[in-house]
Amino acid sequence: MVGLQWGDEGKGKIVDFLAGEYDAVARFNGGSNAGHTVVIGGRKHTFHLIPSGALKGKELLVGAGVVLDPVVLGEELAILPDEVRRKLLVDGRCSVVSPLDKEFDRALEEMRGGSAIGTTRRGIGPSYAARALRLSPRASDLLDGFDFGPLTIYYRKLAVDSAGLIAWAEDSQKLLRGLVGSVSARIIELDERGGAVLFEGSQGSLLDLIHGTYPFVTSTHTTASYISAALGIPPSMAGESLGVTKCYATRVGSGPFPTELKGPEGESVRSLGSEYGATTGRPRRVGWLDLVALKYAIRLNGTKKVAVSKVDILSRVREFKACVAYRHQGTETTDFQRFLAHLDEVEPVYESPFSLYGAEYDRGLPDQCKKFVDYLEKQLEVKVIIVSYGDERSKTIEL
Ligand code: IMP
Ligand code: MG
Repeated sequence: MVGLQWGDEGKGKIVDFLAGEYDAVARFNGGSNAGHTVVIGGRKHTFHLIPSGALKGKELLVGAGVVLDPVVLGEELAILPDEVRRKLLVDGRCSVVSPLDKEFDRALEEMRGGSAIGTTRRGIGPSYAARALRLSPRASDLLDGFDFGPLTIYYRKLAVDSAGLIAWAEDSQKLLRGLVGSVSARIIELDERGGAVLFEGSQGSLLDLIHGTYPFVTSTHTTASYISAALGIPPSMAGESLGVTKCYATRVGSGPFPTELKGPEGESVRSLGSEYGATTGRPRRVGWLDLVALKYAIRLNGTKKVAVSKVDILSRVREFKACVAYRHQGTETTDFQRFLAHLDEVEPVYESPFSLYGAEYDRGLPDQCKKFVDYLEKQLEVKVIIVSYGDERSKTIEL
């Protein structure tokens, strides 16, 4: 399961909904920058590192592609039932996010000033960089006792608090003891026994480090192709992808957003849709559905099945618009990559084939939304299999 936009597509809810059919849920990318929200009986749970299948009693796997912040993991475990800890397995190859990485994330953002990326300041970029530089500890290294010397030299410009670092490492060891193993081996074992694993992606395809709107991206891969590399399983085991999209678009942080609504229209959708970051609380930028970007994301992931979320929000918005092409200096294109260096200048070409205004969902899919589903299926050449019309687990229609 992958996000088809810039994150916050409602993936947490869909994972929770589907998890019943699986033996395990495995997170494969990102870190505590993610905020996957599940609402049951009015109670809201936001997962940052623990897979969103936790409330369905599933086996919970944190794969090696994830950068693991033990402090956040500890906070998450503290508020969940004890059973969750027993179901959790963290891959020993996960890079550990240290306080130094978080501090560096903040320092880099401050250094960038007006051209800041708008990161979540969770140390994600520095942590993946330290992994690429072969400086950071893996979860298994931390348990064995790790020499932080080279890492602290690398970070020598930061005010390194050595005593604080030692205390953090000791707390992290305590937390991780008994949780660390091989997620790769576990998934292969489950597969051999005929078990099923749901692979949970974080962020969205357009935030992919390589294929997203670089440099305004996260520091990991967010598309389905990363599943096998990140988890340490053969590509053939990754299965088919399910893409999740909202019926409009949002983005947190900086970077191009062709269909952004900057005025009161955007503010109205933001407040109707409670579009504030689940991790940082920042107001999300809001815009119309962008079919050009979606087609690109669908192509990257080979997506044939899509879940659409938040249709209820557009029940309260009179107009519906979908961007079907970008215009730049008199040329129109339906290719997301055509004006890649000018995505912040393209003008969206809109269609308004129907509206979802006033649609009610409690007695099944209303005709208005059927039109929307047909339209999406035709435009994107996919099958819409799930429509989500509210945060609550029960507000889900399977098609
Ligand atoms: P980082 O991942 O914290 O380095 O942030 C890089 C960019 O990705 C920023 O624009 C963030 O707002 C965005 N981002 C990171 N994680 C998420 C997420 O889970 N949802 C939405 N945006 C995210
Ligand atoms: Mg989110």
